[in-house]
This record gives sequence, C-alpha cells and structure tokens, in this order.
Amino acid sequence: MNKLCIEGNKNLNGSVTISGSKNAALPILFMTILTEEKIKIKNVPINLTDINIALQLLVYLGVKVTYKKVLYIDPSAINIFYAPYYLIKKIRASIWILAPLLARFGKAKIFFPGGCKIGNRPIDLHLKGLIKLGATINLHNNCINASVKGRLQGKYILMEKISVGATITIMSAATLARGITVIDNAACEPEIIDIANFLNTIGANIVGAGSKKIYIKGVLKLTGGTHQVIPDRIETGTFLVAAAVSRGHIICHKTEPKHLKSVLIQLTQAGAKIKTGKDWITLDMRNKRPKALNICTSPYPGFPTDMQAQFALLNSISQGIGTITETVFENRFIYISELINMGAKIKLKNNTIICYGMPKLSSSNVFCSDLRASATLILAGCIAFGVTTVNKTYHLIRGYESFPEKLNKLGADIKTM
Ligand code: EPZ
Repeated sequence: MNKLCIEGNKNLNGSVTISGSKNAALPILFMTILTEEKIKIKNVPINLTDINIALQLLVYLGVKVTYKKVLYIDPSAINIFYAPYYLIKKIRASIWILAPLLARFGKAKIFFPGGCKIGNRPIDLHLKGLIKLGATINLHNNCINASVKGRLQGKYILMEKISVGATITIMSAATLARGITVIDNAACEPEIIDIANFLNTIGANIVGAGSKKIYIKGVLKLTGGTHQVIPDRIETGTFLVAAAVSRGHIICHKTEPKHLKSVLIQLTQAGAKIKTGKDWITLDMRNKRPKALNICTSPYPGFPTDMQAQFALLNSISQGIGTITETVFENRFIYISELINMGAKIKLKNNTIICYGMPKLSSSNVFCSDLRASATLILAGCIAFGVTTVNKTYHLIRGYESFPEKLNKLGADIKTM
C-alpha cells in the first residue's frame, strides 16, 4: 500500500466531499481527558492513521471509545497517567495529552512527540506555559514528567512566538486552573476556535479564541456534551489546487469558505474563477494555465504553511516566475527535489523557492517526505506526462481520508501497488 502508480495528463473535474479537520479533531480528542463525563464527537476523520493513534493513546489511558458514525468517548475511568513511547512518537498531536492529564489529575508523564520532519518541532513553548501556570516539569531521557500540587494557577502568558500547539496546550490547562489565564499573542487558527467551542460546550469559560488574546476563567469540573468538528480547510485547499493545476473544474462540499480566505485570494490571482456558498466552494480553471504567484506563509489569517507544497506545484506549471517564502517551519522544502525530478525548475535560496514555470512536468519515480508533500507529489503525477510512481505514501493517510479514491472520482487514474 505504500506505493501509488499514477497515469498523468488528466483534467480533474467533479465534486468532492470534504472530511472533518484533522488538526481540530486531534486536539479535541485529547481535550476529552479534561472531563469525567461522556462526550459525543461528530465529523471526525476516523480513517486517518493519526486519529487512530490518538484513539489508541486514549484507550491506553483507560478511556472507553466506540464509533458508530459518531465517536462516543467515556473518560470517566482514566487510571493511567503515562503514555507509551511507541505511540507518542508517532504523532505530533500526542503532546496534547500532557496538559489535560496534568490539569485533571495533577500528574502526567509522556515522551517528546513525533510529527512530520519539517523542522525540529520543539515543545519549549508548551512547557514554559505549563510552568507559568504552576506545573513542575522534569525532563529526563526524552521523557517529560509533569506534576502540580492541588490546582494550576491562572496567569497572564505572553507567547514569545505564535504557536498553534502551545496555544492549545495552555488553553486546555487553564480550563481547570484557579482564576483567570490570559494567552497573549495567541495563535488564531480556525482549529483554535473549534477547540474553544468544544471546551465551552462541556462547561469551560473561554472568551476571545480566534483573536490574539484568549481569556480563560478556570472552573472546578467540566461536564459532557456533543460537538461537530469543523471541515478540513487544508484538504479543501488541496482539492482546489488539484483542479487549478489540471485546468479542471471542481466543487468542494461540506467545507467552510471563510477558513480559506488567503488561499482563495491566491487562487483568484492565479486566474481561477471561484464561487463560494454557505458550505461549498467551486473553482473553474478550464482551458487556462495558472499565472505564477509570490507567496509568503504566515500564521492565520495569513497564507497557511500547510498549503505551501501544493502552491509550489502550481507555480511549477504556471506562466512566469513565482516565489514561495516559508516563515513558519525551518525545513519544509524537502519535496522540491522530487518535483525537480519531474522536470520542475525550482531554485532554493534560504527560506524562499523561486519557481520558473514549465508548461508540463514529466513522470518519474518520486518519494514522499511528509504529509502535505505526499498530496503534492500525487497531484504532480496526475498532471505530468506518462506514468509516475509515488513511494512512501504512508505519510498521506496520516492526514487525507481516501485521497486517491477521491481523486479517481474526479478523473484521475491512480492505482495502489
Ligand atoms: C500545528 O503544528 C499543525 N499540526 C501543523 O500541521 C501546522 O503546520 C502548524 O500547527 C502551523 O499551523 C497539528 O495541528 C497536529 P506550531 P504545531 O506550534 O502545533 C515553533 C499538517 O501538515 N515552535 O504552530 O507543531 C515550531 O517549531 C501539520 O497538518 C516552537 O519553537 O505548530 C514552528 O517553527 C504540519 N516551540 C512554529 O513554532 C514550541 O514549543 C509554529 O509551530 C512550539 C512550536
């Protein structure tokens, strides 16, 4: 299953239904540790390996999990406050076990998390935030031992750097802390709003999520409740790029256009005709070659780093010379060597790539390096001359549900080898 064979030269046309957001569902799953009451979560992208690993971690802690179209979580019987290396190491999201265990039980022991190799992925901001709230943190042999006597204590915390993960860690810890916590210079991603909405549904008191300043008034206990996860904005953007690079026409259903403003602006500048409705987006690039773009990634509402690779492909086949500057992660251009193997003309200068648009790419034997690069190489295979083999596609199923199948419904010809 870790290899795909892709017949190129395709126009991708039709409709696709977007799954629930991986980057909202993962933290929300771990937030259930904060309460002892039953939770129901809808629109979870249950077929992702990252979600599966998160559920294995919850079950290891003693959480009861059942799935019948909706995820039923019962965290009442948690009796282990330690998570095993072999699971923790597989996903970045496992860091979000730490704060909820600490806030509810006063102790937690986990290892440094895993995640896509797009930089060294430190967790110093997570730990500094918890220490500010009164936690004692000991690090030894890659292991994090956290404890607090009684409850955490609310504080004003100014984030020295915008961090989605650390904002989530501190926000979750503060829900059960004594008094008020203010997170200043907080991340503003839609996923942060979704997590805050979930936490407020189960009795938390959070105001300002989605802005630079989040206020959390700690409560003694949280309750149960039901939540529906927001659509995946990065999956949506990836399918819009699929239609744009293949000169096709697509409608994305069950999505949220307002989460993709910066992406839609860029696609419009590339020449695409875009229409949006309450929960759908159409993109039309029929018979048009995209125009090259100059993009700089930045924290939300800026251009998302998780769409950087997909737009490098778009620039590689556009008219003119385009640039993409990566400001969030320090090593997120590994995939360009694979695009160059397919005939793309890309130069790397510090944290910027310069793309000299080519009319066509050619097939090759390429290797995936991370989640978003995997989707990009598959799209490259769909439009290149000839038959492309994409290897190490295990990265893909971490974050895209049925990606090859959804593309084949749009006219691609992708076979699993
Ligand atoms: C989340 O990663 C997402 N992952 C990433 O998506 C996404 O690219 C990223 O946010 C930015 O939007 C999940 O939600 C599981 P950060 P995270 O903390 O939380 C530095 C995907 O493809 N930093 O906002 O790890 C860090 O090194 C993935 O779905 C510290 O220095 O991102 C980076 O340079 C990839 N110290 C910057 O901050 C810390 O303690 C932003 O990282 C934490 C982060």
